[in-house]
Amino acid sequence: MRILSSLSPLVLFSISASALRIVRFISDNGEIFHGDAILPANTTDASFSKTAKVIKGDIIGGNFTVTNEIRNINKLLSPLAPEATRSVRCVGFNYATHAEEANITIPDFPILFYKPWTALAPPNGKVPVTEGYQTQGNFTSTMDYEAELVVVIGKKAFNITEDEALDAVLGYAAGYDVSHRGWQIDRGGQPQPQFSMGKDADGWGPWGPALLTKDVIPDPQTLKIWQELVSYLKT
Ligand SMILES: *[C@@H]1O[C@H](CO)[C@@H](O)[C@H](O)[C@H]1NC(C)=O
Ligand SMILES: *[C@@H]1O[C@H](CO)[C@@H](O)[C@H](O)[C@H]1NC(C)=O
Ligand SMILES: *[C@@H]1O[C@H](CO)[C@@H](O)[C@H](O)[C@H]1NC(C)=O
Ligand SMILES: *[C@@H]1O[C@H](CO)[C@@H](O)[C@H](O)[C@H]1NC(C)=O
Ligand SMILES: *[C@@H]1O[C@H](CO)[C@@H](O)[C@H](O)[C@H]1NC(C)=O
Repeated sequence: MRILSSLSPLVLFSISASALRIVRFISDNGEIFHGDAILPANTTDASFSKTAKVIKGDIIGGNFTVTNEIRNINKLLSPLAPEATRSVRCVGFNYATHAEEANITIPDFPILFYKPWTALAPPNGKVPVTEGYQTQGNFTSTMDYEAELVVVIGKKAFNITEDEALDAVLGYAAGYDVSHRGWQIDRGGQPQPQFSMGKDADGWGPWGPALLTKDVIPDPQTLKIWQELVSYLKT
C-alpha cells in the first residue's frame, strides 16, 4: 500500500489488489512460490488453503503483484524464505501474564535478543531437538514453548517515532519461540544467561502459516494469542 501511493496512476493500474494472506509454498511441480492464499469457505486459517494466487515481485519491499495464476499448495513453508529474512529481533517478557507466571518483575527496559535466520522454519513441522539438547548438563529445566506474534517490518525504520512505527510494518504472523530453559538460564548451576544457546538452534523459530497484511489486521492490539499443546514426542 505504501509503495502504491507513491506511484503514478498509470503504474497503479497494472498492479492488482494488495495481498491479504501471503504464503510461501511448494507446488505440484516442486517449484516454490509466494502466493495470496485462497481460503476454503469455512475458515480464515490459511493452513487449510489448498490453492493460492501467485505473487510476483519483492514481498519484503512491498513492491509485488498478485497475479491471476492459481497454483496448488502441496506444502506450506515459512511465509518468507529464511535466507531472505535476515534479522529476527525478539522481545522478552512482552506479555505481562507470561512475566507474572514466571514470577519475574517486568523490567523497565525490554529484554531484546535475536534469533538467527537458520532458526526459522515452516509451520506445522517437527521441532528438532538434537541429542545435546536432550542430555547435556545438570539442568533443572528443559524445553519450553511460547506462542508469539511475529511483526514483519517492510521498510527501513531507524529512530522513528512511536506514531510512525506501524507504517513500517508489512504484516503479522503467528510464531513459536522454542527455548531450552536450561541452556538459556540455569546453565547447570552457573548463573550466566545465554539466550543464544537456549533459543537459537536450527528450526527453533517456526512461523506461519501466512503473513497477514494490514488489510486483514489494521490494529494488532485487538489480536488474541494462544497456543494448544497437542502432543509431546519423546525419542
Ligand atoms: C474446513 O474444511 C476443510 C476441508 O475443506 C477441513 O479440512 C477443515 O478441517 C475445515 N476447517 C474448519 C475450521 O472447520
Ligand atoms: C517494482 O518492481 C518492478 C518489477 O520488478 C520494477 O520495475 C520497479 O522498479 C520496482 N519499483 C520499486 C519502487 O522498487
Ligand atoms: C511462582 O510463584 C507461585 C507462588 O509462589 C508458585 O506457585 C509458582 O510455582 C511460581 N512459578 C515459577 C515458574 O516459579
Ligand atoms: C552434575 O552434578 C554432579 C554433582 O554436582 C557432578 O558430579 C557432575 O559432574 C555434573 N555433571 C555435569 C554434566 O555437569
Ligand atoms: C534519534 O533522533 C533523535 C532526534 O533527532 C536524536 O536526538 C537521537 O540521537 C537519535 N538516536 C539515534 C540512536 O541516532
